[in-house]
Amino acid sequence: MLTFAGAMGWQLARMHARVGDALQEMNAMSDPDRAAQRTLDYYRLNAEAFRDGTRDHDVSQNIDALLRHIQAPAPLRILDLGCGPGRDLKALTARGHVAVGLDGTEAFVEMARADSGCEVWQQDLLQLQLPTESFDGIFANAVLFHVPSAELSGVLARLHEALKAGGVLFCSNPRGQDEEGWSGDRYGVWYSWPSWRARLLAAGFVELEHYYRPAGLPRAQQPWLASVWRKASRG
Ligand SMILES: C[S@@+](CC[C@H](N)C(=O)[O-])C[C@H]1O[C@@H](n2cnc3c(N)ncnc32)[C@H](O)[C@@H]1O
Repeated sequence: MLTFAGAMGWQLARMHARVGDALQEMNAMSDPDRAAQRTLDYYRLNAEAFRDGTRDHDVSQNIDALLRHIQAPAPLRILDLGCGPGRDLKALTARGHVAVGLDGTEAFVEMARADSGCEVWQQDLLQLQLPTESFDGIFANAVLFHVPSAELSGVLARLHEALKAGGVLFCSNPRGQDEEGWSGDRYGVWYSWPSWRARLLAAGFVELEHYYRPAGLPRAQQPWLASVWRKASRG
């Protein structure tokens, strides 16, 4: 039988765990580099399982959404931001484009290079160093939600600079009600559409379209929010 003292101890342990979680989240917000490093550690430790589990994911709907808005003539120069093990680098190359990968997880960079033959840069999203006006499109599939919200404007500004005039940014993120914090050992932000839209518009992007995934299911069963944006041409 649970004694009063035992029950109190259990409640205290639960409160302690909750306070611990809250403190970790506050730390991550005040030290985004640590949040990024712990998230990257998660991917490093789980790189092979992640590759095996996502190799057959069909994101052709997202690749189509990026490509159909790019007005420049092919072959296009596309940055696959947070390319992971390289599935989409291969798909973009198979469509005749010049794809460049970028990821912070060294194991993924090596896998992506070996598997796709593409140029792949190892960079942290929080310290991006990208060439100016270099890409016709940026494909950011399931990656920008890992950027702590306080750092997002800086990251979007660097992506904006890296696009050619009229270039297109595709993003897909797990959606939510603007919750921010840890999901296991990965840090993330679960943006609502109004908040995500406001952040992209503030960064100087023009809205092209958005949709929820997987296609054909009721909204409650569509956890992914995909959106497509243009860097406005200079007038
Ligand atoms: C959910 S995976 C998506 C991978 C791939 N785009 C896909 O659709 O399968 C997130 C990716 O973001 C990368 N990533 C997470 N935080 C990062 C950071 N701070 N800098 C660079 N890459 C990061 C991870 O290494 C991982 O490859």
